[in-house]
Amino acid sequence: MTRNKEEAMALSILILAAGQGTRMRSSLPKVLHTLGGIPLLQHVLNATQALDNSNRVVVVGHGREEIIEALDSNDIRWVTQEQQLGTGHAVLMAMEQVSAIDRVLVLYGDVPLIEANTLETFLREVPEDAIGLITTNLPIPDGFGRIHRDDGGDVVSIVECKDASATQKQIQEVNTGIMLAPAAYLKNCLPKLGKENAQGEYYLTDVISIAVAEGKDIHAFVAEDPIEVSGVNDPYQLSQLERHYQANQAKKLMLQGVKMADPNRFDLRGELSVGQEVFLDVNVVVEGKVKIGARAKIGPNVVLKNATIGDDVEIKANTLIEAATIDAKSVVGPFARIRPETHLMEGAKVGNFVEVKKSTIGKESKVNHLSYIGDTQMGTGVNIGAGTITCNYDGANKHQTIIGDNVFVGSGVELVAPIQVPNGVTIGAGTTMTIKVPENKLVVGRARQKVIENWQRPLKTTQEAKQGVDAECVE
Ligand code: UD1
Ligand code: CA
Repeated sequence: MTRNKEEAMALSILILAAGQGTRMRSSLPKVLHTLGGIPLLQHVLNATQALDNSNRVVVVGHGREEIIEALDSNDIRWVTQEQQLGTGHAVLMAMEQVSAIDRVLVLYGDVPLIEANTLETFLREVPEDAIGLITTNLPIPDGFGRIHRDDGGDVVSIVECKDASATQKQIQEVNTGIMLAPAAYLKNCLPKLGKENAQGEYYLTDVISIAVAEGKDIHAFVAEDPIEVSGVNDPYQLSQLERHYQANQAKKLMLQGVKMADPNRFDLRGELSVGQEVFLDVNVVVEGKVKIGARAKIGPNVVLKNATIGDDVEIKANTLIEAATIDAKSVVGPFARIRPETHLMEGAKVGNFVEVKKSTIGKESKVNHLSYIGDTQMGTGVNIGAGTITCNYDGANKHQTIIGDNVFVGSGVELVAPIQVPNGVTIGAGTTMTIKVPENKLVVGRARQKVIENWQRPLKTTQEAKQGVDAECVE
């Protein structure tokens, strides 16, 4: 929906995030706890991003510096509520950033799954001069403000859980906290709020009974999916929303053609774009920005973080890939660790117990077993034998290893960087290479094998014999 300034009132969005979130029992401010890898407050900001003409104000108090530092890249204004005197007081503080001719949408920083579509419908359906509320029905409404309606079904007031009578507690329709009202009305009404209630706070919810008394129209909009409007108060609720969010993400991916061994064992903490016919086995964790090409197969227990995976790639079980690019037809793992700034070129193979850091592995090159390759530029068609190590660190600085095309490195080789291995060189097993050699040569640098004649394997000393020896020593 586009809201045109000439036709419609401008929109101000106030997001309340000053509360302590005591029940999280955490030193991290509640709205910075993450859901799908994204801070709760950022979810709310994302949902509001799509609403046109909006002036967005976030009210912060507890953990203010930390929150601003984490989320300041958003186009928003921050308002500080020094003391958390209640949701009504928080909105009052924010009103200084709101023009009296605006319409005000109040959201909570700890209600992360609210969707732009729902907000758009809400904005469209509530008349501009009326007061709107989003409510929902909960089988167990504990802790929420209850929606009190009269016999005709009109909303009369919101009764906070702690102030509710036993009968009122039976009401299953609850306040989600999402409210819409003309700024002019709020400016007039908020100063009238009292704090004669169970919590001694200025409740925003009391705006409703005041408005009803003043003859204002209240439009309650019932959200069908309670999860979308649920708040996070403790780690358990957070985990429930997380599972719901992950299930949704998995579903979206599967509708794009991704096959998953088990959508309940898939976590996406960021953004994933996929080609056709991708297969994800169980316990795949995707973090940051990740791309997976067509027909790629991702094995069980694989972590992909800010990685680009090409077409027809196979990532085998228990592999960790971070900030790396894996080109088409490569095979990685099982048990491989690909660290940042690594590039595997087409058809490369990195096998089990291999760590690769800040290196390029050329086309069709293979590092199949138990190696460390760091700060290395490797050509095409190279074979690295098992247990080969690039010695890239001298204790102070990192050095480069440059390996040409068609190099064959035997097992257990140490390449002491800085070192260059020209095209076609063959390095014998166990070599410690420190000096550059000409192209296509064989290099072997290892201690010559000897046989020690007349050598006898030592025999195990018996306990008595050992005591005898000790006694001798003491004398
Ligand atoms: C509030 C509503 C309740 C509703 C519930 C939905 C009131 C009085 N009650 O209760 O009707 O069912 O949310 O989740 O509004 N905050 C501030 N400053 C304050 C107090 C709170 O910014 O002084 C912020 C919090 O950070 C949070 C939001 O407002 O994001 C809600 O506060 P919270 O204390 O969680 O309210 P509830 O008791 O859950
Ligand atoms: Ca709450």
